Amino acid sequence: MYRAYTPEWDKTKTAPVILGIESSCDETAAAVVRGREILSDEIASSADVQSLFGGVVPEIASRAHTEAVAAVVKKAVENAGIGYADIDAVAVTYGAGLLGALLVGVSFAKAFAYVLGKPLIAVDHIRGHLAAAYTAAPDLEPPFVTLLASGGHTAVLYAETEGKFEILGATLDDAAGEAFDKVARVLGLRYPGGPNIERCIREGNGRPVIPMPKMLKGGGGYNFSYSGLKTAVINYCHTMEQKGEPYSKADVAASFQCAAIDVLVEKTLEAAAEKGVNTVTAGGGVAANSYLRDRLAKACGERGLRLVLPEKRLCTDNAAMIASEGVVQYRLGNFAKMDLNAKASIPLTATLGVK
Ligand code: KG4
Ligand code: ZN
Repeated sequence: MYRAYTPEWDKTKTAPVILGIESSCDETAAAVVRGREILSDEIASSADVQSLFGGVVPEIASRAHTEAVAAVVKKAVENAGIGYADIDAVAVTYGAGLLGALLVGVSFAKAFAYVLGKPLIAVDHIRGHLAAAYTAAPDLEPPFVTLLASGGHTAVLYAETEGKFEILGATLDDAAGEAFDKVARVLGLRYPGGPNIERCIREGNGRPVIPMPKMLKGGGGYNFSYSGLKTAVINYCHTMEQKGEPYSKADVAASFQCAAIDVLVEKTLEAAAEKGVNTVTAGGGVAANSYLRDRLAKACGERGLRLVLPEKRLCTDNAAMIASEGVVQYRLGNFAKMDLNAKASIPLTATLGVK
């Protein structure tokens, strides 16, 4: 019979030791965080195999997680230099993501927490991406404005207090990362699109020489739209191919990247000004983009704003960000029951707990 789990929760702990487990896509990751200090951060990826198929194959991802999860968790605990008894709670990504992949992490975390006699924390993957910023600055406190730019979401958020966000604007169609992935495919580049587009750009002069459509700049509030930009790139490539004219992939990639990123920077800075905050953060895979990081740094520098960016490797999927959100939830006393299930999709409003 199911027995509700009652955690031994020490409210006085400001720097709990959290083991984070992430398996929502093609990365099997485990990390140990103490407060905002990362003690270990391990990752095993099936991306190399996945890239042969042009995207993530769910069944391959699930099998790879099953093979890797125990060893990755063991390594994370060992490399953290702690004993199992030192762990205060086990935080795991329960959604959104590939259901079979998520279930591997969730099942492992439940068993692990149960055996250790420690509480379980259910982490929303996107909240993990947002909490990555805390690992970059021990003193980071709301209020701040955050740019969320991932493979599934693109939004400008206002963080009023720790763990509480307001959505100021979001994409009306594709997410920024999705646009990078689709454009990469059109250019014959492998998955994941973002880093491969960056590599392709380095083969040219990096200038945006091909005209791209306007990206709801100065309009649409803090909303974004990427479908027009994606279509413009597809049309350009197809037209050139039909005419039998050669074109530079590096020029297309650079022109796309500028259009895709400039609007993100512009709207994030506008939101920071409107909200009167002096700190800006970013999270999600696209926040690993060098051009975005440079543009944000320049724009924040010009306006005297503090920019807090997670390290590049902590922008894409990892478990340190899951453990970091685990710390936030631990402090709030939000623990999961042992009947926790994986969730394939979670709307952004539910993720952030807003209407
Ligand atoms: O944030 P993430 O893990 O996705 C979700 O959780 O939804 O990041 C994956 C996305 C992919 O679309 C990938 O192409 C993009 O982030 N990405 C990048 C870069 N690295 C990853 N986009 C632009 N530049 C990069 N360097
Ligand atoms: Zn992610």
